[in-house]
Amino acid sequence: MDKVRFGKTEMMVTPMTFGTWGIGGAGWDANSDETRLDAIAAAVECGINFIDTAPAYNAGKAERYIGKALDDLGHGWREKVLIATKCANAFIDGQYVRSGKADLILRQCDESLQNLRTDHIDLLIVHWPDPVVPYEETFGALNRLKEEGAIRHIGVSNFNLEQLKHAMEVADVEALQVQFSMVDMDNLEVMQWAHEQDLGVMTYGSLGGGILTGRYRTIEKYEAMDSRNRFYPYFKEPMFSKVMKLLDVMQTIADARGVQLAEIAMNWSRQKPFVDTSIFGAQKRSRIESNAKCMDWELTAEEMLTLDEAIAKIL
Ligand SMILES: NC(=O)c1ccc[n+]([C@@H]2O[C@H](COP(=O)([O-])OP(=O)(O)OC[C@H]3O[C@@H](n4cnc5c(N)ncnc54)[C@H](OP(=O)(O)O)[C@@H]3O)[C@@H](O)[C@H]2O)c1
Repeated sequence: MDKVRFGKTEMMVTPMTFGTWGIGGAGWDANSDETRLDAIAAAVECGINFIDTAPAYNAGKAERYIGKALDDLGHGWREKVLIATKCANAFIDGQYVRSGKADLILRQCDESLQNLRTDHIDLLIVHWPDPVVPYEETFGALNRLKEEGAIRHIGVSNFNLEQLKHAMEVADVEALQVQFSMVDMDNLEVMQWAHEQDLGVMTYGSLGGGILTGRYRTIEKYEAMDSRNRFYPYFKEPMFSKVMKLLDVMQTIADARGVQLAEIAMNWSRQKPFVDTSIFGAQKRSRIESNAKCMDWELTAEEMLTLDEAIAKIL
């Protein structure tokens, strides 16, 4: 898989990043340990060299799967794979707890290194802004971790433009991770600005939490803490019916090209000029191998326009 430079960093990353929120197991469908470990191996075997995770993904469970899966792949794999993990957001007794306090960040980084079975983290991302704790404290902790060599780069996630500018005053922030997909363009301005500043830009929810794969055709009931209920708003009205209409437009292009809907969603995202890499989550080898086929082709300018016009009209 071709690689692109991630912002101004030295990291060369694949335009697809493998996300592991689902792999952690909380808030998503349950799968066996074997299935999840095999999914991580599949992502790496498909040529994806960037893995996104977080301590908040089931209290370090996703990180532990990654550590084991890379170990199982054998000697040298850690050197070939770049890992982004996060901090300042914990998962305690089934609830997400955000805090930018330095002691939490330092403790989480220590635990992430152990979970991931590594001596350094390529990119440590502040998972969510904390409106209470001063940025000097939060980013002071990240600066210290970078000086000590525990982390190579600092990033932020879910920061708006003002918050990103503030963070960049107190630390060398080199990456932005925000939600961006055919069904969510709320972060367009901050992404474009970050790209202009030469930050690495990575999108999450690139498949709209799975709805852009065409897998969901009826509205289902999910548990209160299921991400399809709590986090992504596409699985209920009014969004659900709109997304179904958008899938029809995507299907026309998919049929003409003989590709899957998920590939259309991935390429629409990764081909945007201000996106360096698009994160997708999946827990099964077959889904990862199928999604990775999007790297063999690109949407034409005309197809991009058709999709952009459909999004503007329908959503
Ligand atoms: N920074 C943040 O605050 C933040 C927030 C959300 C996500 N993220 C990161 O971004 C990653 C991606 O986002 P996401 O996982 O939330 O959403 P997503 O990638 O938009 O969608 C994931 C869903 O799509 C399903 N899926 C993937 N490929 C499929 C296929 N070919 N056919 C059918 N279903 C398919 C997955 O199913 P299975 O898993 O059941 O296989 C999963 O349910 C996360 O894993 C995480 O690393 C970061």
